[in-house]
Amino acid sequence: MKKLVCVLLLLCLLFTPGCGKSPEDDETETDNLITVGFSQVGAESDWRAANTKSMQESLSEASGFELYFNDAKQKQDTQIKAIRTFIQQQVDYIVLAPVTESGWESVLEEAAAAGIPVIIVDRQVDVSNPDLYCSWVGSDFRKEADMAVEWLETELKRQGRDEEEINILHLQGTMGATAQIQRSRGLEVGVGKNMNWHIVSQLECEYTQAAAYEQTLKYLKKNRNIDVIYSENDNMTFGAMEAMDELGITYGLEGDVMIISFDAVHSALENCINKKINLCVECNPLHGPRVITIIRQLENGITPSKLAYVPETCFDARTITRAQIDSRTY
Ligand code: AHR
Repeated sequence: MKKLVCVLLLLCLLFTPGCGKSPEDDETETDNLITVGFSQVGAESDWRAANTKSMQESLSEASGFELYFNDAKQKQDTQIKAIRTFIQQQVDYIVLAPVTESGWESVLEEAAAAGIPVIIVDRQVDVSNPDLYCSWVGSDFRKEADMAVEWLETELKRQGRDEEEINILHLQGTMGATAQIQRSRGLEVGVGKNMNWHIVSQLECEYTQAAAYEQTLKYLKKNRNIDVIYSENDNMTFGAMEAMDELGITYGLEGDVMIISFDAVHSALENCINKKINLCVECNPLHGPRVITIIRQLENGITPSKLAYVPETCFDARTITRAQIDSRTY
């Protein structure tokens, strides 16, 4: 019996991963990993969940990274605290998805003083010294808005309504976030060009379904005279749809209210093919592999692009196909 136990132990040492390794071996393996502190905005939308997943799956141990992840629940203070903790932990890189553009100067100076390179993803930071971060990767939010405005001009012409008074209800994301600033500016410029378009109200909905539901319901209970909902993300669109369902207001290709929505997450595209959302403007959240490319460049002494815009498109309820939806990963 003793003999059998010894043989089993020996087999375990030979074939079990990790078995037989000394603590020094483990240390050596962890030592070789590149440590990255990632301060994420929060979990406010399906887009954000896809973004977090992309970062966590890409910056894995198998790929040579140790990721310290912090969810700031949409609070800048929490992001600043997280960055300070990453500095104390002496991570190799800090990745920041900033909730708003302003307010980063001091903490980024602290990271620079500690010699830790900072990579910005998704929204941008407004800092007087651009050397406070090495690279930014994300969407061209203004271009997204311009695509939406151009689509609305064409669609109204197609419907023979280009001379009609058009009332637009505007659902805005977190005020001061690049996605909000640029998507709002694009619409406002479009309204300036088309004298028959009117923004009847701008509702601040923080990119969340719950806030958009509450706000849209409250607004539409008092005033139903709207032609278009311009919603700065899909989750706010879902909230507005809930509110309209409750009030018996029809929307989409065959309804009374046209919907323009940003992100193009899977469930929005399903609503688009089902004719409930007229236009889905893509916002690509898959930044994990892009961040890895930037880190690899820095590791190899290559200066990455200061700003890298990702290519994006849009989907029209009239032309979207099942194959398009099925080929997408978020
Ligand atoms: O900054 C990107 C925006 O943030 C996405 O449109 C939205 O869904 C997210 O919360």
